[in-house]
Amino acid sequence: MANNPVKPQPCRILDVKKESAHEWTFRVETDARPEHGQFMQLSIPKVGEAPISVSAQGDGWLEFTIRSVGRVTNVIFEKTAGDTLFLRGPYGRGWPVEQFRGKHLVVITGGTGLAPVRSLLRQCAQQPGLVRDVHLICGFKNEEGIVFESELMEWKEKFRTIYALDTDKKDGWRTGFVTEFVKEIPFAAFGGDYAAVVVGPPPMMKFTGLELVKCGADPAKLWMSFERKMSCAVGKCGHCRIDEVYVCLDGPVFPYTVARGLVD
Ligand SMILES: Cc1cc2nc3c(=O)[nH]c(=O)nc-3n(C[C@H](O)[C@H](O)[C@H](O)COP(=O)(O)OP(=O)(O)OC[C@H]3O[C@@H](n4cnc5c(N)ncnc54)[C@H](O)[C@@H]3O)c2cc1C
Ligand code: FES
Repeated sequence: MANNPVKPQPCRILDVKKESAHEWTFRVETDARPEHGQFMQLSIPKVGEAPISVSAQGDGWLEFTIRSVGRVTNVIFEKTAGDTLFLRGPYGRGWPVEQFRGKHLVVITGGTGLAPVRSLLRQCAQQPGLVRDVHLICGFKNEEGIVFESELMEWKEKFRTIYALDTDKKDGWRTGFVTEFVKEIPFAAFGGDYAAVVVGPPPMMKFTGLELVKCGADPAKLWMSFERKMSCAVGKCGHCRIDEVYVCLDGPVFPYTVARGLVD
């Protein structure tokens, strides 16, 4: 696949896991080796294509956690283990893992915003010492919206975690928006040696960015990942363009200093 990244390749679905009613994880057989935070174009012939983040990877497989929202994703949800999906990629700039190495890593996600950062978190959990420690805040609208629940429980043992539901109550979980918990991150104790990543719906990213800066985080140490309508994914069609920025090539991961100008 790496030899011709623009040609969709047929790949076998190995497994489908229902995370929630409208968010399912598809494990697909492929030898593609994306960087954390990159995306692939998933397609169904005669239906269309959708850019989807890689949510986990292993030897000979990738996982994609998909929300069924329309034409392409609804047809993907009709597929099951043994069926074929077409993939091209990987595309885009992922998380700057080298810049995170040895530092305190703060990760704040809203809903399925956890998907584009999940493969990085899996590596942090499997490889202690990659980063100094992980401070993870994950928010979900309600209990039905929780994804990757067994991993969230595993990460409780390895990371400093705050898991929250917007308004509902649940044992071991906090109630409130993720922005309310940002002040609990001990930025002053980090000695400047940290990076923070934020992924979620645009309003969540906007207000979390503002709150992080209010709580003392340096804007130059913050990163965000964007979902934007795309077509070619290789910088040719202009569908993803915001001013001079091509989200497919320059992103989807951006430094906050660029991202804050892109959030509507
Ligand atoms: C870099 C990147 C990573 C993404 N990662 C994921 C992921 O991990 N999981 C996931 O479920 N989705 C992800 N998306 C969003 C996903 O690409 C869209 O939901 C999908 O393309 C919709 O296609 P559709 O044909 O099913 O829906 P359509 O019938 O085309 O549209 C249904 C609705 O979705 C909106 N929409 C369409 N395309 C996008 C888009 N690219 N971004 C946001 N909204 C869109 C439309 O405005 C419409 O309201 C990502 C998008 C990008 C750009
Ligand atoms: S999707 Fe075509 S230029 Fe970015």
